[in-house]
Amino acid sequence: MEVLGIDIGGSGIKGATVDTAAGALTRERLRIPTPRPAVPGAVAQAVREIVTHFDWSGPMGVTFPGVVLDGVVRTAANVDRSWIGVSGSDLFGKQAVVLNDADAAGVAEMTFGAGRGRRGVVLVLTFGTGIGSALFVDGVLVPNTEFGHIEIRGKEAEHRASDRVREEKDLSWEKWARRVEEYLRRMRDLLSPTLIVIGGGVSKKAAKFLRYIDLGDTPVVPAVLRNEAGIIGAAMAAAEAARTPVASAGHP
Ligand code: BGC
Repeated sequence: MEVLGIDIGGSGIKGATVDTAAGALTRERLRIPTPRPAVPGAVAQAVREIVTHFDWSGPMGVTFPGVVLDGVVRTAANVDRSWIGVSGSDLFGKQAVVLNDADAAGVAEMTFGAGRGRRGVVLVLTFGTGIGSALFVDGVLVPNTEFGHIEIRGKEAEHRASDRVREEKDLSWEKWARRVEEYLRRMRDLLSPTLIVIGGGVSKKAAKFLRYIDLGDTPVVPAVLRNEAGIIGAAMAAAEAARTPVASAGHP
């Protein structure tokens, strides 16, 4: 099935049509800088631009960097607070399925990427403006886990170890990797995952930092789909909702 996937990020809003059975983009993706401030109306305008560019009228999936329950935004840690309470289908149209960005990326990685075929507990973490999390048990997503907000050394983990913090504080890859490692160890101790997948924008630079990270028996691997995971996962969620309209509204 061909579906439009849109990934709303802190710096860019990216969209492309996706072949959801193959997990691949069918047309070149379009990126629009995220409007400032990233309020719902301005973001909806950018989403409309993407819809128009692809001349799209079918189902579409849209990611959002916060908790999304039954299509309604519940938290907004890194975007304008006016998002809280916004319904995805009111804002983007009835054809839109909205879900958490890390959940979308995780679903794509579990189906077509680094987590493919992996059973047991798998944790996908995305490092970007914040830290996103997607938890899978035998391939089934536990949505909206929000593990980027656990406390480490008196601070939220994403305020110590997101990729944004690395850039803002100009941390060396090694220094930043030590912070990430401390965070991953905590997650391992809490969840005992059989695999941790590192996604988000930083995953394409895995060679620079993964060598500093050692979690003993727990493998830590980079995401395979990189920046396309959110777009592909969003499209997959919309395709799933189109197949089973009631049961899956708002969830992949
Ligand atoms: C948000 C999550 C989101 C993550 C990555 C966090 O601040 O609370 O919902 O998945 O950032 O964007």
